[in-house]
Amino acid sequence: MKKLNVALIGTGFMGKAHSIATAVVPILFGAPIEIERKVIVDIDEELARNAAHQYGFAEYATDWRDVISRPDIDIVDICTPNDTHAPIAIAAAKAGKHVMCEKPMAMTVADAEAMLAAARETGVVTMVSYNYRHTPALQMAKRLIDEGRIGDILTFRGHYLQDWGADPSKPLSWRFNKAQAGSGTLGDIGTHVIDAARLLVGEFASVNAIVKTFIPERPLPAGRFFGPSGAASSEMGKVDVDDAALTMIKFTNGVYGTIEVTRNAWGHHNQLGFEIHGTRGSIAFDYQRLNELRVAFADDPADAFGFRTIYSGPNQPFGDKLWPVAGMGQGYIDIKSIEWYNFLKAIADNTSAAPNFADGLQIERIAEAILASGENGNWVNIEQSAA
Ligand SMILES: NC(=O)c1ccc[n+]([C@@H]2O[C@H](COP(=O)([O-])OP(=O)(O)OC[C@H]3O[C@@H](n4cnc5c(N)ncnc54)[C@H](O)[C@@H]3O)[C@@H](O)[C@H]2O)c1
Repeated sequence: MKKLNVALIGTGFMGKAHSIATAVVPILFGAPIEIERKVIVDIDEELARNAAHQYGFAEYATDWRDVISRPDIDIVDICTPNDTHAPIAIAAAKAGKHVMCEKPMAMTVADAEAMLAAARETGVVTMVSYNYRHTPALQMAKRLIDEGRIGDILTFRGHYLQDWGADPSKPLSWRFNKAQAGSGTLGDIGTHVIDAARLLVGEFASVNAIVKTFIPERPLPAGRFFGPSGAASSEMGKVDVDDAALTMIKFTNGVYGTIEVTRNAWGHHNQLGFEIHGTRGSIAFDYQRLNELRVAFADDPADAFGFRTIYSGPNQPFGDKLWPVAGMGQGYIDIKSIEWYNFLKAIADNTSAAPNFADGLQIERIAEAILASGENGNWVNIEQSAA
């Protein structure tokens, strides 16, 4: 069993989540590869030092450039704001390191293409952290679809609704700044639903979207930010990204769909969800009830027909590796740990992981098309990757 050393860049919201996942993945899954949490990096030295201690890394550093080409580093884990993903990932891949990269993969399609090209040059394993697809209930939805249990898919109705952006007094963090985030709600959370739609339904052929910014200026942040929140100053700044996007979709396989994404939906904290309607049944998922998959099968007896709930447990994908009783409760760290298991397994098997940089690039193409349609009001075709 080969031991791989991890360098994690960025100690914020995701730095913490990846730190826990990398610590527990061998306990939960008997990881296929032994990993050591070697170095944690943050531009803020105090954060880096504290994180090394609190999250359990052997060392800390303040400049990712000093770390990623070290011969004793095997995996680079990118948990920094979006504008840093491309430079870190390209340098890491060129140095022959496997790359786990938080989503969205890049700021632009051009950056995503350069990241994929760098990874293909050295053949490293890549993964983009569209973690929700690893949720056992969502994987169960995929199993039901692949087995034909809902017949042929007719329509996909996806959404990702949050409410932390609805308050105009929330400061202008990097997530509201195009230069650091690339796009707003669409890149931040919409890309997760796009990932789920590609996984469950198929490739997007074209999109037609309305893209809106509801709160055009916000108070500038006072001090440092962690995750989506932080303190506000009295000075205002311009928001130059989207707050919401409503998209109609034509899939290449003839399925039709819609996706609604907003961070301005009071009462919806982290509501990623979808319904899929097929010729023989329907499937519904809501991440805020991530242990539940709702299904309705046309073949059920008429007097008992209707939606019913499957509770995640040992009979669903990965459930046997988690807790032995259905309904016991899986959570965000379970999902992040499955993500890390899948990444490490791909490295161990010398195969590609999913979703990888090719998937990330295709999601960037779709996101860019949605923004273009929001500007010009037309249906925009999506470039398809060569097989
Ligand atoms: N998959 C998910 O569920 C999920 C959830 C939240 C965030 N994200 C993604 O994770 C990434 C990080 O988001 P976050 O919420 O953790 O942000 P955050 O603001 O909480 O933390 C970012 C950290 O990166 C550090 N940093 C910034 N530039 C750096 C650099 N050049 N070198 C080293 N450290 C640097 C900051 O000091 C900060 O500590 C983003 O791409 C975001 O979209 C994914």
